[in-house]
Amino acid sequence: MESEKRLLERIRSKEATIGVIGLGYVGLPFAVEKAKVGFRVLGVEQNPDRADRVNRGENYISDVNADELAELVREGRIAADTGFDRVPEMDVIVICVPTPLTKNLTPDLKYVESVAREIAPRLRVGQLVSLESTTYPGTTEEVLLPILRSSGLELESDFFLAHSPERVDPGNKRYTTKNTTKVVGAVGPASLEVALAFYSQTIERVVPLSSAKAAELVKVFENTFRAVNIALVNELMLLCDCMDLNVWEVLEAAFTKPFGIMPFWPGPGVGGHCIPLDPHYLEWKAKEHNFSTHFIALAGEINRRMPEFVRDKAWRVLNRHGMAPSCAKVLVLGAAYKRDLNDARESPAVAVIRLLEKAGADVCYHDPFVRAIVDVDVEMQSVPLTEELLKQQDLVIIATDHSTVDYDWVVAHASRVLDTRNATKNVKGNRERITLL
Ligand SMILES: NC(=O)c1ccc[n+]([C@@H]2O[C@H](COP(=O)([O-])OP(=O)(O)OC[C@H]3O[C@@H](n4cnc5c(N)ncnc54)[C@H](O)[C@@H]3O)[C@@H](O)[C@H]2O)c1
Repeated sequence: MESEKRLLERIRSKEATIGVIGLGYVGLPFAVEKAKVGFRVLGVEQNPDRADRVNRGENYISDVNADELAELVREGRIAADTGFDRVPEMDVIVICVPTPLTKNLTPDLKYVESVAREIAPRLRVGQLVSLESTTYPGTTEEVLLPILRSSGLELESDFFLAHSPERVDPGNKRYTTKNTTKVVGAVGPASLEVALAFYSQTIERVVPLSSAKAAELVKVFENTFRAVNIALVNELMLLCDCMDLNVWEVLEAAFTKPFGIMPFWPGPGVGGHCIPLDPHYLEWKAKEHNFSTHFIALAGEINRRMPEFVRDKAWRVLNRHGMAPSCAKVLVLGAAYKRDLNDARESPAVAVIRLLEKAGADVCYHDPFVRAIVDVDVEMQSVPLTEELLKQQDLVIIATDHSTVDYDWVVAHASRVLDTRNATKNVKGNRERITLL
């Protein structure tokens, strides 16, 4: 088919223009990756501040190399807009917008739908649309396709449609977009061929699947796998707490077995844009088939309760020293949901802060990467981490194990530390001050 042939040529010769819709944690690194190999990238970002920053060559995502971005913008390889007028210039349109949950934990596809409604009237012959956002099996065909079809164009001859879930692990230096195997599913053979050609340009290994639906399930299953295993070690931690055993010692020993087991660690709960949300996408879709996903429900229940356990353990530490939680000064160390990131979305550290404040404690936080928290019931600025601050606290709770923090120094100056991440594993002195989760 002529349109397919032409698009394949443009992709293989890197003459194709790549549109990236949503320049966030997924979209901006993706845009840089494509521009680096020679594609021209046009971003669409509804947040005008983010779009302006991209056009000034200013980085705001930790996984992006700031110098690389600045250089690519200077060379005219990346530009951003807040609107969709330049969609016809794009050969490939990659959608990287959020897929959150509603208050009732059901999928909220308003961003994907609104983007599709903007693209449809501007769609032209010879374009590939690929959805990268994480979502339930069926979204590409059941939600995206009908909207794109309203353009009057024919699928598989005029335009092509695929789903290739982003698997990026923010902050992971070993596995980046380039060396993380990509799975690709499409709504027809021509779409699959074009999508495979596109992703193979920048990614070392691309695995084709028989449908977009299968690719969608791959991604939600991966995150469900993490959620369930984290819940399992969290439950073990709760049991170890009852048995007066050190869960970290037990797990470290268990993970010395070279087969049949893999490491997951307990903590104050799960956070970020993926693990707390994605399994619910699958849970919701399963209900359409009168199917109950028991593991998802159980894992969600255990992981959601972890911040409460941290609060209760903090109260136990304070009570042991004759202190009432309502008069205690508590420093929460780390607000990001994960080590060395500046992302506090759904962070369990924020949930812990909320619970401590609710009980009347005088709470502050320090995070080298998260300067301010603006969340439901919590609005705070990070305070500087000083010797004096540590000495003033009745309790320091390590909620995120950032590698830039000197934990020897923290324990040396704090009177009591509740460590929810085993960040103090190598601290030698004053270990009697440390309580592990
Ligand atoms: N962050 C991760 O680690 C990660 C990893 C894998 C997959 N994902 C998935 O990728 C998707 C995007 O996640 P993210 O973390 O990059 O989100 P994000 O919030 O960091 O970025 C999304 C961007 O899209 C923009 N946007 C929203 N609606 C738009 C619209 N109509 N037009 C243009 N721009 C719009 C937002 O302003 C934002 O900048 C989600 O489905 C997420 O589940 C995320």
